[in-house]
Amino acid sequence: MIILAVESSCDDMSWALVRDGAEVLGCEVFSQEMIHAQTGGVVPEVAARQHIVQVLPVLDTLLTKTGIRKEDIDAIAVTAGPGLLGSLLVGISAAQTLALLWEKPLIPVHHIEGHIYANWLERSPDDIQFPLVVLTVSGGHNDLYYMPEVGSYELLGHSLDDAAGEAFDKVARMLGLGYPGGPAIERFVKEYEHLHTTIRFPKGLQGKQTFDYSFSGLKSEIRRTVEHRTAEKGELSLEDKAEIATAFQSSVVEVLAERLVKAARDKNVSVLCVSGGVSASSALKYAVEQEVQKNLPHAHVYFPVKKMYSTDNAAMIGAAAYFRRDKILSTQEEICALTPHLSYTLGIS
Ligand code: KG4
Ligand code: ZN
Repeated sequence: MIILAVESSCDDMSWALVRDGAEVLGCEVFSQEMIHAQTGGVVPEVAARQHIVQVLPVLDTLLTKTGIRKEDIDAIAVTAGPGLLGSLLVGISAAQTLALLWEKPLIPVHHIEGHIYANWLERSPDDIQFPLVVLTVSGGHNDLYYMPEVGSYELLGHSLDDAAGEAFDKVARMLGLGYPGGPAIERFVKEYEHLHTTIRFPKGLQGKQTFDYSFSGLKSEIRRTVEHRTAEKGELSLEDKAEIATAFQSSVVEVLAERLVKAARDKNVSVLCVSGGVSASSALKYAVEQEVQKNLPHAHVYFPVKKMYSTDNAAMIGAAAYFRRDKILSTQEEICALTPHLSYTLGIS
């Protein structure tokens, strides 16, 4: 089954062609990173306007590069939410129009479900076995789910305030390291890895019996440290920034890894998946592997096979649509009635 998928929930316009939920025939992403770097974050209206400009050229590039014709396509998939309303509307309108024009069924996909099935891309269908626990963490969400089977989600924990990716973006802004914050901090920390760090920041909700996360205390602690050192020296040196960024990154990835592995132990499962923009972090991958080695040595850990499948992309929407074919919309009335779902938790919308 070949699915043509579109993802436009935030600041990436992406189209992809995916066969049977795993084989990526093509995936094109137009990233607005350079545009939003100027404002240090996504301005929703700017993102929506850019999507309008990019939606057709990106599709055209995909179809030209892959040589796939409309006759080869079995269904169209689209991110229906959650996300920025203006951004979602561009992808949804394009997908509805194509579905009606080409007489294809339409499959609406929950964005977080897309991130989860990003792990199935370019793997063979039996690689990842249920039941499993999955941590999906990006700029907009930070959730830990137990999945007994395909399409079934039990929310074990989530962030009570910022998502980890959002915390990366805000701390990078505080330190003047650029946008998006996650990769900027990771590169900066790597550059200074020889540096001896004395700072240790607290891990949110540590010592509590919970699978929830909290990064607001950590952020305040960083703000205090930045203000204190700035008052002392006039301005932060690169070494100061490196020390703070290193301690911040460790605190975040360690707490993400600890709760994920604890959830796997509590649920008695030996398959752990990580997805979402923050799963592109090599520091997170290392932290999870260390934690697994210590506490669940026989477990299997999966991250998306390519970094581009961690951050927003349409291939993951094509994968999720294949696994959630039960949601297919076939009639003209059903297709026209699809509007953005803005509620957040998977399973509710
Ligand atoms: O999944 P995504 O592309 O968009 C959302 O759904 O939010 O995730 C983007 C988020 C940003 O907050 C970005 O800073 C973070 O993922 N991110 C990272 C890394 N690469 C992207 N965070 C930590 N380390 C990284 N290497
Ligand atoms: Zn995302």
